[in-house]
Amino acid sequence: MSRRIDAPEGAAFDLADDAAYQAWRAAKLAHFPKSLAELVVEVRDPRALSPGERRALLERCERANMAVYASPLAGDPDKEIPRRLGLQLGLRDLDSNYLADDDGISPLAVAERGTRGEFIPYTNRGIKWHTDGYYNPAERSVRAVLLHCVERAEMGGENDLLDHEIAYILLRDRDPEHIRALMAGDAMTIPARVEDGRIERPAQAGPVFSVDAGGYLHMRYTARAVSIEWKRDTATQTALAALEDILAASSPFRGRLEPGMGLVSNNVLHTRTPFTDSDRHRRLIYRARYHQRVAAG
Ligand SMILES: [Fe+2]
Repeated sequence: MSRRIDAPEGAAFDLADDAAYQAWRAAKLAHFPKSLAELVVEVRDPRALSPGERRALLERCERANMAVYASPLAGDPDKEIPRRLGLQLGLRDLDSNYLADDDGISPLAVAERGTRGEFIPYTNRGIKWHTDGYYNPAERSVRAVLLHCVERAEMGGENDLLDHEIAYILLRDRDPEHIRALMAGDAMTIPARVEDGRIERPAQAGPVFSVDAGGYLHMRYTARAVSIEWKRDTATQTALAALEDILAASSPFRGRLEPGMGLVSNNVLHTRTPFTDSDRHRRLIYRARYHQRVAAG
């Protein structure tokens, strides 16, 4: 049968219940993949998975909160590829982003000009550790992210990937007080976005780590120093320094999505290295963000 890890249930993330945490931690580490290669599933057509392909993707997401698929659809710009793949993995509600195309699936490529060019995903610059949509309010939390590669860059454009549950374990093992500080409802504040003197989005305070209604861990984080205000007390600052240290010292999975490949994840921590396009290879990634986690249901 499957190697399903039981849903962690909130108790695993309760600092008062060390036994529940230790049991969940042991199972998590026992099943965790040793390499990125273990996460890769060959699929014939992401738009119409076979039952075995679907099971393989779900199983990897249960173990590592992410899976990589490799398909023969290199260079095919059909947006139905990410959309239909998502639907088969329980991903229905796309987070609408005012820069996304109307259908909620963002084509990430270097923008020549216009609004998109001001935002780092639409440049060829590197992006530090973060989870997607960390600035979203709780009711629009980004719980899953799907990236589909239509075309790669000439050079670069790799991703480091770290399961946020592993980051939690590394941090809690160092000192549970770090977790307490980062679960505080005012640990991080996203300042209001003001345009032309009008408040487009009010300031939002929230935790780094939280536990959703299903008992799953959610993480909001960015290593960028701009557009974020961290609580200034010692506990938060110490916890953040420990997290930065862990992210620098951990050996995350690093890989590059090649054309036809994609990443399905429960919004794990990730980076992007800088890249260079050429006439032959102009990077194009479709990104879809969802309000629910990958699920078999
Ligand atoms: Fe991202």
